[in-house]
Amino acid sequence: MEQTAKIIIDGKTFELPMITGSEGERAIDISRLRQEVGVVTLDPGFANTSACLSRITFVDGERGILRYRGIPVDRLAEHSTFVETAYMLINCELPTQEQLNRFSVMLNDHSLVHEDMRAFFENFPRWAHPMGILSSMVNALRAFYPEIPERTEEEEINITVTRLLSKVRTMAAMSYKIFRGHKVAYPRHDLTYAENFLSMMFDSPVRPYDIDDDIVNALNVFWILHADHEQNCSTAAVRVVGSAKVNLYAAISAGICALWGPLHGGANQAVVEMLGQIHENGGDAAPFIARAKDRNDPFRLMGFGHRIYKTYDPRARVMKKVCDRILDKQRVRDPLLDIAKRLEEVALEDPYFIDHHLYPNVDFYSGILLKAIGIPLNMFTVMFAIGRLPGWISQWKESSDDPKWRLQRPRQIYIGRKERAYIPIEKRG
Ligand code: SDX
Repeated sequence: MEQTAKIIIDGKTFELPMITGSEGERAIDISRLRQEVGVVTLDPGFANTSACLSRITFVDGERGILRYRGIPVDRLAEHSTFVETAYMLINCELPTQEQLNRFSVMLNDHSLVHEDMRAFFENFPRWAHPMGILSSMVNALRAFYPEIPERTEEEEINITVTRLLSKVRTMAAMSYKIFRGHKVAYPRHDLTYAENFLSMMFDSPVRPYDIDDDIVNALNVFWILHADHEQNCSTAAVRVVGSAKVNLYAAISAGICALWGPLHGGANQAVVEMLGQIHENGGDAAPFIARAKDRNDPFRLMGFGHRIYKTYDPRARVMKKVCDRILDKQRVRDPLLDIAKRLEEVALEDPYFIDHHLYPNVDFYSGILLKAIGIPLNMFTVMFAIGRLPGWISQWKESSDDPKWRLQRPRQIYIGRKERAYIPIEKRG
């Protein structure tokens, strides 16, 4: 028998149902609160509010646990590929070999981008940020690939999902080539998903790109670590926009816009910019740590802290190992990695960071890995978006498949002016 929660308002006791999740998380179900009690709740930032029931990702911020469909993310990083993990997030189970082969063929078949879309890329200003371009181009996909009435809804969704997973990767590489004034490299049927991205980014007629298995593996791990993270800001945006029953391209475009923010996915670019500033400051991080601790200074130590994790982000641990592995293999000593490691050591011994439970998050080391792969700084968050795509899609599908799903429309508490008269302009002071 589920327990209930009692609240007493104006001397009257109300009982509210409670629910318990499969990992023991407990919630008060307030879905009938206003109807039965006549009040609403207030929770700016939704730090105490669950928006949905979900079977996709479990995060335990106190114990540093992250699992996709029950599988710990570090095991997927060690044994899986991004395509296999994407399939599992979207279809609930790891694919059989036959299902994986079929999925890979579909991704290959949908890897090209409509040639007319090139004009869009070519007409963006050279200084346009790739995240702004990506959100616009993803939204434009609906115009280039309209719904086919003869298809069933399931066929339409499956094609749209495959197009997004495959074309977003192609568009990212395409915009990079076009902005450098280089010849666009097309996807190849003989390459895997990650190999194709690297080839489309770096292959050129005068310098063929040699596929390096360690780099391909690192890219798969990077994308696996970013693939989903329950109800983060951009996923919440996808669910909210998707709840209005817009097409999936529009909902994903909203997620890309939310991810762009430096407090969210944009942090990976901001971390490398911050480490670069510390490097220019002779490697002395003290002024940056002092600013981060100053409550009157809005500066935040980028890549540190998290709404959910109050311990080490399990993704940062894996990312740090992959950075070491790739830089060792390249026989490169990146001063930014040394600075990052020193910054982590200093911060984790500092009472401010300890008291505020501030640890490295997924973005702290990820930019250093992207830099080692050769990804330009302004594309770091695009790389996060490619990784998060299967997560956004699976969360959108879960919400749109939910028979109890409703338009998401939060309430508010009004604290503005009470009713007053309209004053004609000639009588205003
Ligand atoms: C991602 O939600 C997700 O799951 C996101 C993500 C995903 O996979 O989708 O994990 C990806 O977005 C990771 C986070 C990337 N962002 C950054 O690295 C930016 C730097 N971090 C902070 O801005 C901050 O930690 C947030 C935004 C990530 C979380 O902030 P919260 O939960 O809103 O907490 P807060 O800003 O209210 O801070 C609480 C306290 C404050 O101090 P007090 O006023 O209580 O004394 O902690 C302090 C803050 O000043 N604080 C920091 C800090 N982060 C929080 N102080 C210095 N440096 C920081 N980085």
